[in-house]
Amino acid sequence: MTGLIDHIRNIIREKGPISVAYYMELALQHPVYGYYKRHDPLGVGGDFITAPEISQMFGEMIGLWCAEVWRAMGSPEKFILLELGSGRGTLLQDALRATSKINNFHKSLRLFMLESNETLCAMQKEKLREFNPVYLDDIGDLPEEPTIVIANEFFDAMPIYQMVQPSANDLDAWSERKIGMDGDNLVFVNIPSIPCAENEKVIIREFSPVSSVLVHFLAEHVAKNGGAGLIIDYGYVSPSGFSTLQAVSGHRRAEVLENPGEVDLTAHVDFAAIGKEALSAGAQVLGPTGQGEFLRAMGIEIRAEMLQRQALPLEAEEITSALSRLTDETQMGELFKAICFADPSLRGIPGF
Ligand SMILES: C[S@@+](CC[C@H](N)C(=O)[O-])C[C@H]1O[C@@H](n2cnc3c(N)ncnc32)[C@H](O)[C@@H]1O
Repeated sequence: MTGLIDHIRNIIREKGPISVAYYMELALQHPVYGYYKRHDPLGVGGDFITAPEISQMFGEMIGLWCAEVWRAMGSPEKFILLELGSGRGTLLQDALRATSKINNFHKSLRLFMLESNETLCAMQKEKLREFNPVYLDDIGDLPEEPTIVIANEFFDAMPIYQMVQPSANDLDAWSERKIGMDGDNLVFVNIPSIPCAENEKVIIREFSPVSSVLVHFLAEHVAKNGGAGLIIDYGYVSPSGFSTLQAVSGHRRAEVLENPGEVDLTAHVDFAAIGKEALSAGAQVLGPTGQGEFLRAMGIEIRAEMLQRQALPLEAEEITSALSRLTDETQMGELFKAICFADPSLRGIPGF
């Protein structure tokens, strides 16, 4: 499929090198060719598997987190449960099943979604039919009501800019890492360029203004209207100095600059930046903490034991393996992190 790469080449020929953020935006969200506009990328037959697709336990723990937060909010009779980027709707389906017996919780919630993929929207509507989800075209349309927000593996898809510092000592000498062309090939270029010798030891810093604006908006929203948000994703607190931009296709690493629109493009989430942004919007911030620690604090080990008691031997092994995958430090337990922003008066938020 050459449509998007030709389109990108034309833009670069006409206007010069483009930012990494614009490249990501085109590759993921182009109305015709964008990766997240066209198909369902999840699952064994797709490009990657997310935590809710590994085990029902993940969504169940998030469901319990939402219910506990709702109780801490004083069990309001009306509140919004908003998910950003719901994928196949599996997380919410498991979360809502796990909370079905909590008095008045379902009766009080209105489900809102922010989702750009129409194929996934159709799957979500089917799975969550009884909750009649409302789809927001713009986050600014979110009603001014108490809100619980969840976002799992959403912020890694937000575009980032990359800046390059030739030397840690020279704080003024920033270049931007952009995407230009060498013949017909897309290549990274530094603008202004950096002498070859210095290119060996450059430090790359990443910024996601879109993430900052979104977190600021949501943190301000819960600080004003009541509620809390939970963001889970892979990322860092201290930046490594390397590029975290990565492409995945068919469960394998792929080339970032080949086949835009055909491969998933993500960048690690800067949890320190998210925390700072939420604080500056007037919210309290808990975490980040490792996904493993968060899920254990929510009781995932007890849930695994309960499920295993009713399981056949093969199923019991699968539960053990899913539990390790979600919580072990060597798997998703540490690289994946959870952070919460909340109304500063809210007490008793679980998991942190
Ligand atoms: C990696 S998937 C995660 C799906 C789900 N949260 C899960 O854990 O399985 C990213 C989700 O975010 C959605 N998404 C990505 N960029 C988006 C954007 N700019 N606006 C709305 N939804 C977006 C995708 O369509 C997809 O549903």
